Amino acid sequence: MTHSALPIIIDCDPGQDDALMLFMALKAPELEVLGIVAVAGNVPLAATALNIRILADICQRTDVPLFAGCDKPLIQPLVTAENVHGKTGIDGIELYEPQVQLQTQHGVDFIVETLLNATQQITIVATGPLTNIAAAILKAPQITDKIKQFIIMGGAMFEGGNITPSAEFNAYVDPHAFDIVLKAGRPIFAFGLDVTHQVLSSPDRIAAIRNLDNPVAKTAADLLEYFDRYDSQKYGTEGAPLHDPCTIAFLLQPELFELKACACQIETNSELTLGHTAVDFWQVTGKEPNIQWAHTVDVEGFFTLLTERLAVYGDH
Ligand code: BDR
Ligand code: CA
Repeated sequence: MTHSALPIIIDCDPGQDDALMLFMALKAPELEVLGIVAVAGNVPLAATALNIRILADICQRTDVPLFAGCDKPLIQPLVTAENVHGKTGIDGIELYEPQVQLQTQHGVDFIVETLLNATQQITIVATGPLTNIAAAILKAPQITDKIKQFIIMGGAMFEGGNITPSAEFNAYVDPHAFDIVLKAGRPIFAFGLDVTHQVLSSPDRIAAIRNLDNPVAKTAADLLEYFDRYDSQKYGTEGAPLHDPCTIAFLLQPELFELKACACQIETNSELTLGHTAVDFWQVTGKEPNIQWAHTVDVEGFFTLLTERLAVYGDH
């Protein structure tokens, strides 16, 4: 951590792509990770909470406090995605029982307390359903003053949905939480399917990561090989979209992405289009923008960054 490192709280639901996001964040000198909170999403909370322990352990960052947050969305029942991520959420590697434990404090209380006590604003990085973040805002609305910005993976506009024809998974699982974040009045940088579907792994890219020959890079390659199987078949592409690492890539190298200020609302009622993010990309509503919507990425630059950041795990 450098003196001017950006303080962030990470909220996630690992997930192979969440895992790569954590690998990028946990060795970045530009970032100070204040804590990692697990949320129910890709798999139930018991699994995502175990996974953050394993992933922090693999990165040898057991100094970062780890928390379990909410085990279900604010209002609706939990929907999971074992068909994509496997039963464990991080299929592709062996689970084990790491020494590092979760803190006893609830993840939502950690978020509230950390923000209330903060002497400078904190960035929230969220790569799962936004349940914990919204629950924290509901519990203590004054924390929003302490939030510098939200960097989220979620939503879809041009691309259509990946869990329903209209909705992206994180937005669909807890649209009510997404709505609360949209209305929180803080800057939001959103990396939805429009941009994450451009960032595809490929056998060559995975081989380059494996060739780095350090334990974290090897784990990343194993996870990506598993992740590829489902998505390559689904999308007919050569590799899988690396959704969640886009958030950290943006913090490390924002010039990799093009974003546009848009007004965004989320559907919370319709059975047909639940979780649809209505992004006013062409400014047809006249509404004030409330989101910076990522739409284009320098894919080669992204993989160069990812590979460089995994390489440093081999440094001694
Ligand atoms: C998002 O849903 C999850 O499956 C991934 O981890 C990512 O956060 C993509 O829609
Ligand atoms: Ca995720």
